[in-house]
Amino acid sequence: MRFLKICLLLLFPVAVTAAESGFPLYEMEPDLRDQPSLQRGARTFMNYCIGCHTLKYQRYKRTAEDLGIPVSLMMEHLVFDPNAKIGDLIVNPLSDDNAKSWFGAIPPDLTLYTRLKGSPDFLYTYLLTFYEDTSRPFGANNLVYENVGMPHALLELQGVQQLKECMDVSRLNPNGSQMRDPVTFEFLTDKVCGDELQKSGISPFELVQGSGSLSEDEYQELVYDLTNFLYYMGDPGQLDRERIGRWVLLFLAFFFVPAYLLSREYKKAMH
Ligand code: HEC
Repeated sequence: MRFLKICLLLLFPVAVTAAESGFPLYEMEPDLRDQPSLQRGARTFMNYCIGCHTLKYQRYKRTAEDLGIPVSLMMEHLVFDPNAKIGDLIVNPLSDDNAKSWFGAIPPDLTLYTRLKGSPDFLYTYLLTFYEDTSRPFGANNLVYENVGMPHALLELQGVQQLKECMDVSRLNPNGSQMRDPVTFEFLTDKVCGDELQKSGISPFELVQGSGSLSEDEYQELVYDLTNFLYYMGDPGQLDRERIGRWVLLFLAFFFVPAYLLSREYKKAMH
């Protein structure tokens, strides 16, 4: 077993660590062509994350260009550091020492985060699985990052999410019908608790109604856009490659015509 785990770790280091909490990750399909989504994601990042996390391998200017944001709007609405210039890297003044004493951990730079994790799924799930836990210093815990040092930065938007108590969940036959006790004929159930509920297709969370300013769907969309933006950050060249790729294909399509005619001429000359 141990040997198998080491082999797996060597082959798929990311997949294995991401799945370590045991909670199945929600899937997230990024869409870099959706510019409004990337712009909304940038706005959320600059409003709720930049105070603690940097994007220090990227400049404001490149971000504005790629996302189709005019420089003046970018400076006015998305760059909150009064000393920052459009050509600067996206950093913040939080020192490692302060972060360590305030949060017990240093907030990592997020430029390459989704690439480090191998997919945007972990980030997407992480932002959807904060829940209330009064035993934690900031009153929040996370299903895919146990005992996380980060406070729930989007709490005012999402509202208070609580883990459900244990529930009785029907035991199912392989064909999906409910299983009965062979003697009493009563339906059989299992007690399922916390994150285990997700495996039975039941959300493990309950939202305290009215505690957040967004509806559940709106919050999910906001997290989608933010994840989409951070996915773009991990590989901003992807947009260029697609654009150039299209021209290359177009060029090849046109080039095919003279190349074909030329080859026909050569063949004629040979015979
Ligand atoms: C008040 C400071 C603070 C804010 C605001 C904040 N974070 Fe964090 N974040 C942290 C700290 C501290 C950690 C490290 C937690 C740990 O390692 O226990 C962290 C960890 C993370 C991680 C996990 C990193 C890992 O090691 O895998 C992600 C992802 C993340 N933050 C994303 C975000 C996003 C996205 C936002 C904006 C919505 C945000 N954070 C806002 C402080 C913050």
